[in-house]
Amino acid sequence: MKKILLVPGDGIGPEVMAAGVRLIKTLAQKFSIEFVLDEVDWGAERWLKDGVGIPHGVLEQLPKNYDAILFGALGDKRIPDMAHGRAILLGLRFGLDLYINMRPVKLFNERLCPLKDDGPSSIDMMIFRENTEDIYLGLGQVINEGTPDEIAIDFSRHTFLGIERIIKAAFDFAHRRGRKRVTLVDKSNAIKFGGSLWQRVFMRVAENYADIRADHLFVDVAAMEMVRNPARFDVVVTTNLFGDILSDLGAGIAGGLGLAPSANINPGVIALFEPVHGAAPDLVGRNSANPFAMFLSIAMMMNFFGYDEIAQVIEQAVKEAIDQNATTTDLGGPLTCTDATHGIINHVTDSNLY
Ligand code: IPM
Ligand code: MG
Repeated sequence: MKKILLVPGDGIGPEVMAAGVRLIKTLAQKFSIEFVLDEVDWGAERWLKDGVGIPHGVLEQLPKNYDAILFGALGDKRIPDMAHGRAILLGLRFGLDLYINMRPVKLFNERLCPLKDDGPSSIDMMIFRENTEDIYLGLGQVINEGTPDEIAIDFSRHTFLGIERIIKAAFDFAHRRGRKRVTLVDKSNAIKFGGSLWQRVFMRVAENYADIRADHLFVDVAAMEMVRNPARFDVVVTTNLFGDILSDLGAGIAGGLGLAPSANINPGVIALFEPVHGAAPDLVGRNSANPFAMFLSIAMMMNFFGYDEIAQVIEQAVKEAIDQNATTTDLGGPLTCTDATHGIINHVTDSNLY
């Protein structure tokens, strides 16, 4: 039995969550697993009504009460600075110490790639984004606010232990999955203290993994290389901010945000899974949101639970749907969110992979 907390959130979040719940119920039936699903109303409405992001005292209880959290999306035009997004999403990432943010960049079909000459065999990487440090901590200050002399300072904090655990997670993953190379992406030629620390910790950890090639790129070069020669990337480990940027770049070369899943993990404690696409307010209520990033996030959740074969069944269903053009319009297909979901449910139900 696995207990999952559902946070549909804003915008298209509830639509893709409904699709996700249909998939989870199908999996429960096909594979005889009990999934207990509880839903909460955290998001823009609640924030605007009573100023609550994550209700007081709930965060601490989550690892005790749930195995995983499944997230829809956050974002609302009435809250332009995304204060509620930071409170809820970053609140969960930091509050639950979800230090591993895994963001796969995997091309399912050549047709979805804007790059000339690249196909599924050349785009298959896993970005390990550090998820609890860096400039995301909100440390800093403003001096002389509202005057021409205003100075805004944001601190970027990196710790030995914080760096070490994400780098180890990347190498362990590479080792487990038979991946060949781990690339550190940083900006140590310009960022003096943090850059140097990442470099030193990376070299130290890499020594323990003789079977895996360890190399390094500065983030500006990495951005160029991801477009010029994506096949050179296998496992990538990087800081919170660079991981944020590179994972969108990755989504751009592998079918767009509609296909990008993510996992935020504190191993052995709890994990949060979310499609990367955000709330997409323009799509709300049109039944046109792409549910595949949600499905692939659920596949990552199944991996986290140790149900690797189920994850494979979901991935295979998504791949086949894409190959058959049975997708929503963002991927060039003719289907609504509901019909694209239906297609995946049928694939999964009929699958004899497992
Ligand atoms: C992401 C998003 C978030 C981030 C925002 C919404 C704070 O861009 O998950 O990639 O920067 O981490
Ligand atoms: Mg982002």
